[in-house]
Amino acid sequence: MRADQEPRADPARHPSSPGDDSAPQRAAPPLNRRFSLARGARTRAGHSRGLVSHWVTERVGRGKPPGLFDIPIGQRPTQSAKGSSARALRLAGGKARPPPWGCALRDGEDGELLLGCRHPWTPAVEGVSGAMFSEALLVSAPGKIILHGEHAVVHGKVALAVALNLRTFLLLRPQHNGKVSLSLPNIGIKKVWDVAGLQLLDTSFLEQGDVPAPTPEQLEKLKKVAGLPEDCVGTEGLAVLAFLYLYLAICRKQRALPSLDIVVWSELPTGAGLGSSAAYSVCLVAALLTACEEVTNPLRDRGAGSRWPEEDLESINKWAYEGERVIHGNPSGVDNAVSTWGGALRYQQGKMSSLKRLPALQILLTNTKVPRSTKALVAGVRSRLIKFPEIVAPILTSIDAISLECERVLGEMVAAPAPEQYLVLEELMDMNQHHLNALGVGHASLDQLCQVTAAHGLHSKLTGAGGGGCGITLLKPGLERANVEAAKQALTGCGFDCWETSIGAPGVSMHSAASIDDPVRQALGL
Ligand code: MEV
Repeated sequence: MRADQEPRADPARHPSSPGDDSAPQRAAPPLNRRFSLARGARTRAGHSRGLVSHWVTERVGRGKPPGLFDIPIGQRPTQSAKGSSARALRLAGGKARPPPWGCALRDGEDGELLLGCRHPWTPAVEGVSGAMFSEALLVSAPGKIILHGEHAVVHGKVALAVALNLRTFLLLRPQHNGKVSLSLPNIGIKKVWDVAGLQLLDTSFLEQGDVPAPTPEQLEKLKKVAGLPEDCVGTEGLAVLAFLYLYLAICRKQRALPSLDIVVWSELPTGAGLGSSAAYSVCLVAALLTACEEVTNPLRDRGAGSRWPEEDLESINKWAYEGERVIHGNPSGVDNAVSTWGGALRYQQGKMSSLKRLPALQILLTNTKVPRSTKALVAGVRSRLIKFPEIVAPILTSIDAISLECERVLGEMVAAPAPEQYLVLEELMDMNQHHLNALGVGHASLDQLCQVTAAHGLHSKLTGAGGGGCGITLLKPGLERANVEAAKQALTGCGFDCWETSIGAPGVSMHSAASIDDPVRQALGL
């Protein structure tokens, strides 16, 4: 039935509606934020006096924006009331300012009562726990490098990953303009949606489980919602898709989808194997969960600290993994884990432990700037494993052993440091680089990187998915400064970018605007 048709009613379908004089009154159920959300789709008739619910209309008039309003369901309109939308609203117990435009009442499924309104209508209902926030939130999360175990970790082996001191920053500002906007200045993206339009979506597919995992079919659906082309597989499209998924899935528990403005800016190059997508997902999730009061606000609730408590980090990590799945398909979860917890992690099949004692390793990070797709590279290793199980499985087992040996040596380096330990680390890097080449994730640019650094007595391996992207070179203590500079110059001469970096940066953090550096403030438009 169209919403602008005269509504039909069948009172028999609402035998115990509170507004039905003959109906017995039921005790008021407690106000339940999750229920009152009801995906912003419908108001249920038949609930006891005082229960507040809300609902969004379908498009009522052609080209008109849909309306959103709250109605305390205290009385059920009688059949006769349904002819007049204004009267129906009054009878429905609407304390809100009546809209000057026509509203329509109609029956929904399963005895629900639906009301339609042509224009947005600001809720004026008191006593509703709409957790929406009023303050801006500023969060950051680090990128990562994988010391050993990339690709093998997808097949259940150990990976050692460390947080990098290059970060992604996100600024979330609540708005009152009925819009939700996403700006990604690094990749020139600015997207704006009408909240009311998003509120109308059938997002029931997001209601499976606490942290719903997106299926390919659901992502196709979401692409339509986002107005993205079906073949959107590039960084930009996937970043937008991940945002929409996380925004809708996390905020669906709110009374109404929030109007907000989000800017994300990163020091990390994208698609280079440094976990930029994980840092993006972690920032989005941390900000949205905090805004929706699903996790604590570390600055407000915990005094001076900027980190979330452990149980909140677990939620952030779980949701960020789903964001990563939107972007990468079936990742191991190591990238979002290290971006969430920071420091250095041993990760295997979703289980992680932090390497508490980490020597102060200096790393030269080199970006070959050769673009590649993590998803495609991971799929390539899987096909090679299926095609040559007897050959590829032992390589993965050997990589696992390299990770374990590296972990052992790192522990030993803290307890009883000795120069030979660096030689072991170098050998492990060389062996793993050959293994990764055998898995088919090498690239001519990475070979060049290894050769150039080897010419200066340094040892390197790819980090992340490979196929281009980044490599790491160990800078052991006592190296001649001139030698390091010469290696950097040679790498730059190949067209690569280099940074000297330390490892083990803090995980996802919340900041006050005053505490961040000027370049970041400027990039975020603060
Ligand atoms: C990507 O940073 C690391 C890979 O092992 C993929 C993954 O773990 O999901 C290549």
